[in-house]
Amino acid sequence: MDNLDQLVDDARAAFATAGDAAALEQAKARFLGKSGLVTERLKALGRLAPDEKRERGAAVNRARAAIEAALEARREALRAAALADQLAAERLDVTLPGRGGVPGGLHPVSRTLERIERLFHAIGFTVADGPEIETDWHNFTALNLPPNHPARSMQDTFFLEGRNDVLLRTHTSPVQIRSMLAHAERHRGADVMPDLRIIVPGRVYRVDSDATHSPMFHQVEGLWVGERVSFADLKGVVADFLRKFFETEALQVRFRPSFFPFTEPSAEIDVAFMGGAPEGRWLEVAGCGMVHPNVLKSGGIDPERYTGFAFGFGLDRLAMLRYGVNDLRLFFEGDLRFLAQFR
Ligand code: PHE
Repeated sequence: MDNLDQLVDDARAAFATAGDAAALEQAKARFLGKSGLVTERLKALGRLAPDEKRERGAAVNRARAAIEAALEARREALRAAALADQLAAERLDVTLPGRGGVPGGLHPVSRTLERIERLFHAIGFTVADGPEIETDWHNFTALNLPPNHPARSMQDTFFLEGRNDVLLRTHTSPVQIRSMLAHAERHRGADVMPDLRIIVPGRVYRVDSDATHSPMFHQVEGLWVGERVSFADLKGVVADFLRKFFETEALQVRFRPSFFPFTEPSAEIDVAFMGGAPEGRWLEVAGCGMVHPNVLKSGGIDPERYTGFAFGFGLDRLAMLRYGVNDLRLFFEGDLRFLAQFR
C-alpha cells in the first residue's frame, strides 16, 4: 500500500516549484490528469474487495481533495504574484506633475479686434458685417467711385475669374452702404431716423504683398450718421479711442488732409508715441472723413438732413503697433513660435 501522505506532499512540492500558470497546469496533469497519479489510484479501487475499497476510497478521495486544494491555493498565489508584477510594472506616480495640454490663446489680431469692439461698444457702437465677395457696386460705385474713376486704381483688386461685377472687397467701406440701406429701410417713414453707429471689422483683399502689405488683411470701418454729426465728433471719437487703445495719454494724434472719393473732407490719421518707440515718428493708422453726400444717397439717406463721419483703420497695423511686431506676414504664417508669445 503506498503512502498517500507522501503523494500529497509530492503534489504540494510540484505545485510549489511551478513558476507560472502553464507549469502549474502540467504539474496538475501529472497528479489529477486522465492517467495521473491520483486517477490511477482511483481506477485501482475497482480491483479491491468491498470493505477495503470503502476505506481506501475514502483515503484516496481525501488525498485528492488535499491535492486539489493545494492546486487551487497555488493558482491563487500565482495569480496574486502576476497581478503584483503587473502593478509594479505599470506603476503610476500620481505625484508627478501632469504633462497637460498646452493652453491655446487668441490670435493677436483677434485680441486686438476684441479690444476695439469693447472700446467702441462702450460709446454706443454695434458691430456690423458684410460679405467678403462683394459686388462692384457696393465696393466702388455706391462709394462715389463710378466705373473708370481713376481712384479705383488706389486699390489693386482681385476680380473673380470670368466676371467683372463681383470681386474680393478691397475695404470694409461697402458695409457702410449695406448698413445705411438697412438702417434707412428700418426707419422709413419715421419723423427722425435714429443715429446709425457701427464698426465693421473684417478681412479685405488687395493685390499687394511685402513686409507691411499682405494680399489679405484686416480693417475696422467706423460709421456714425445722424442729424448733427460733425468733423469735431470724428476727431473726438477717434482720438479718444486711440488713447484708450494704446493706454497712453502721451499719444499724439494728427489728422492729415487727404483724399477719398467717399468722404469730403478727407483725412489720414497718424499717431506718434511721445517718449515711446518709435519715438516721435508719425505712423499712419487710418483713413477718415465726412461721408460724401453721394454716399449717403447711395445708402438711402437724405444728405440735406443727415451728416456722418467714417473711418477705416488698418486692424493689423494697430495690432503691430500695440505688440511691437515689425513684419505683417508674421500674423498670417501660423508659426507657433510667434503665436505662442500671445497666449
Ligand atoms: N476705405 C478706405 C481705405 O481702405 C479707408 C477709409 C474708410 C477712408 C472710411 C475714409 C473713410 O483706404
